[in-house]
Amino acid sequence: MKNFKKMSFAFAVSTALILSACGKDSKTSGTENQKPLRVVTDAAYAPFEYLDKGKIVGFDVDFTNAVAKEAGLKIDIVNVGWDPLFAEVGDKLADIGMSSITINDDRKIKYDFTVPYFLSTNKILVPEGSDIKSAEDLKGKVVAVQNGTTGQEAVESLLGKNSKDVKKFENNNLAILELKSGGADAVVADNAVVETYAKNNPNEKLVVIEDKDSFAAEFYGLMLPKGSKYKEKLDKAVKEVVENGTYEDIYKEHFGTEPDLETLKA
Ligand code: ARG
Repeated sequence: MKNFKKMSFAFAVSTALILSACGKDSKTSGTENQKPLRVVTDAAYAPFEYLDKGKIVGFDVDFTNAVAKEAGLKIDIVNVGWDPLFAEVGDKLADIGMSSITINDDRKIKYDFTVPYFLSTNKILVPEGSDIKSAEDLKGKVVAVQNGTTGQEAVESLLGKNSKDVKKFENNNLAILELKSGGADAVVADNAVVETYAKNNPNEKLVVIEDKDSFAAEFYGLMLPKGSKYKEKLDKAVKEVVENGTYEDIYKEHFGTEPDLETLKA
């Protein structure tokens, strides 16, 4: 009897310790024992996701970390590359695709997305003095794109699907290298990416061309496996991060300007 009492006391104490270790804060409760969600990316797309001394950094990284914190979820961001990230999320091997991924009808067949978090459009990167002044001018030119992006789609809708003048690369940095080495006349990719590149590399004398008639507005979302159980939580967290000023802080840090939050609410 005495022993039994001792044992049940010990049991009660250890249970209390375990419970208290789980945390009382409602926002983080559950995260302690949660296996981190696997977030896959293609970290070759500055300023959204890129490597800095081997570390994955960028707007998307800060944004997604803020969203995860708000949702009370632990995450682990892994640089797997563009095509593999679609395969992983499609096969439910990863929980989130974070890669400036445009929400479009094609992708919505296979994947779920969170509510939009960024407005983007494709733009054209060319050497200064190029005779390319609009999307129409790309016809008859060689254009480098990242394979499987909306940039590839946009260019192929002008030059024709399977046109040999569209050179497709595994990541966008390789497409830009092709332009620099003279193997292509232009790169088409997301505006912030080509604008950041031109700005950060003034000695390369590149300019960015906008063509609103040919290139549509696009929204980025975090990409999820179809039927993801995290969608509701993440949607709520995205909205909260936009509304509570965190998004604005992160945006200003990476772009130096104020975001237009109205575009996200539309
Ligand atoms: N927004 C474009 C798309 O979804 C390009 C994104 C490329 N992202 C990247 N990390 N390479 O197709």
